[in-house]
Amino acid sequence: MNKSFPGFFLLAILISCNNQPEPTVQDTDPNRTWWKEAVIYQIYPRSFKDTDGDGVGDLRGIIEKLDYIQSLGVNMVWLNPIYSSPNADNGYDISDYRGIMDEFGTMEDFDEMLKGMHDRGIKFVMDVVVNHSSDEHEWFRQSRSSRDNPYRDYYHWWPAEKGKPPYRWSYFDAEGNAWQYDSLTDAYYLHYFAEKQPDLKWENPKVRQEVYDIMKFWADKGVDGFRLDAFQFVAKDTTFPKLPEGYEKDVKNVIKHYGMGPNLHDYLREMNREVLSQYDVFAVSEGAGSTFEDAHNLVDADRNELQMAYHFEGMSVGNSLEGYALSEFKEVYTRWDSAFAQEGWLSIFLANHDVPRMVSKFGNDSPEFRAPSSKMLNTFILSMRGTPYCYYGDELGMTNISFDSIGQYRDIAAINGYKKVASAGGDVEQYLKELKFLSRDNGRTPMQWDGSEHAGFTAGTPWLPVNPNYTQINVQAQESDPNSCLNYFRKMVRLRKDNPVLVYGGYELLLPEHEQVYAYTRTLGEAKMLVLLNFSAENARIELPAGLEAGEVLINNYDAVEAAGSEVKLLPYQAVICGLK
Ligand code: NOJ
Repeated sequence: MNKSFPGFFLLAILISCNNQPEPTVQDTDPNRTWWKEAVIYQIYPRSFKDTDGDGVGDLRGIIEKLDYIQSLGVNMVWLNPIYSSPNADNGYDISDYRGIMDEFGTMEDFDEMLKGMHDRGIKFVMDVVVNHSSDEHEWFRQSRSSRDNPYRDYYHWWPAEKGKPPYRWSYFDAEGNAWQYDSLTDAYYLHYFAEKQPDLKWENPKVRQEVYDIMKFWADKGVDGFRLDAFQFVAKDTTFPKLPEGYEKDVKNVIKHYGMGPNLHDYLREMNREVLSQYDVFAVSEGAGSTFEDAHNLVDADRNELQMAYHFEGMSVGNSLEGYALSEFKEVYTRWDSAFAQEGWLSIFLANHDVPRMVSKFGNDSPEFRAPSSKMLNTFILSMRGTPYCYYGDELGMTNISFDSIGQYRDIAAINGYKKVASAGGDVEQYLKELKFLSRDNGRTPMQWDGSEHAGFTAGTPWLPVNPNYTQINVQAQESDPNSCLNYFRKMVRLRKDNPVLVYGGYELLLPEHEQVYAYTRTLGEAKMLVLLNFSAENARIELPAGLEAGEVLINNYDAVEAAGSEVKLLPYQAVICGLK
């Protein structure tokens, strides 16, 4: 397994495609639903807008920017965790599931924010982090206090008299060991993530009931969806057998041995019965298992489990400092689309808070090509089947900050990863080079609102520096430019919302081997669209397959496109969607 943090997200998976006819969607079609038609905007609340000058974004900041969010045309917002937390992992370590983090505000702020969204026709997705809690959660305080405490069985403990527990890898531990010895009760507890994130024991029905009660608490408040963090890991083999030699070389084995336990589907059906089916809400799993079958078993409608999942195979493309082959990118997205053409539903995204900025990774963040390539990538996300997740700042073409020294990082994954490499005598220079490109902090720098100090994000000192390019890349500058990334994003969102073919239509890949252009059609009944995306910094020329000719241009990130018969010429990073003649 890749031992740097991004390895966690490189969970690749395989299976064959199927070739059955595409479904059609009419207004009465029961497959039509709001969460499939939504465009989700993901906000990292720490970095969106600070209103009290402490350098950390807050809920009042989101309230202040609700009109901006609405102006994007998006109709759902997912916020990373906003619960009370000591912030070992920026909120993914929760100490009270019914409280709001002090830095972010109060429950009154939350209620006002939610109402503000609903008043604007925007739905809201809550992050649910229940593979683990914080070690400062009352459950864990009790659990660790004695072996016979009623909460002992809320977590995974290994008594020291049984010897050392079989090794388990931890994503954030500075020594890479998921078992932490606790002298108080002479036992080890399990933490797949940081030492301060002990794993909850889902095998205990009381734990599951606690989780459902928490979800009901938020559903009663009116939240519309749940994003289930690290969910494929909740069901474990609690005998913790010794793992076979070399298992970690295949990521599929990692998922199999660390999660996706046989009870997962029972738990999900229980959650569906107790919570999801009782409200008009949807739930999306972070992670989709290690096969298409796993993914289908999570999301197919007749399973009564979840509604959506996101897979990580797309994120595993482009992690090399040498770039990536477009044919590989196309192959991954096409294979996943085919596998879900008949049943099940997935998400489409190119960035989130765990990966680099989309334009720096998949596009070209040089001053010359940043704008066209970021518009091109947004055209991709918003023209594929699946629910698009658009990460804050990507509508502007925000880029990686690219830190040089370890002291600049704030992310526990980067800091502890560095310690691990250093203490093993590894190549820290190489590690820093990879971090500079792949670190999670790249995607977490504050939102760039305007050209004033700290980009208008805070009146204080930002918790993570603002990218110095904010003087050129910011909302204010882009509002007044009709050709800006921001205004292009709005146009593209509108195109998707006006055309169900972009949501439900069948997808067909053209020119699979072409290393510059990603071309595909979307078809729903009579509606047909042709999507042409030049992923390269050079001019490109394609010959459309026999019978296809580009028609009326519906969106274009340049002023014109050169097309004659079946021949189309595209400028660097040009993106065009047109009808078909
Ligand atoms: C996945 C989240 O996306 C990531 O940010 C977090 O660090 C881990 N889960 C642990 O909760």
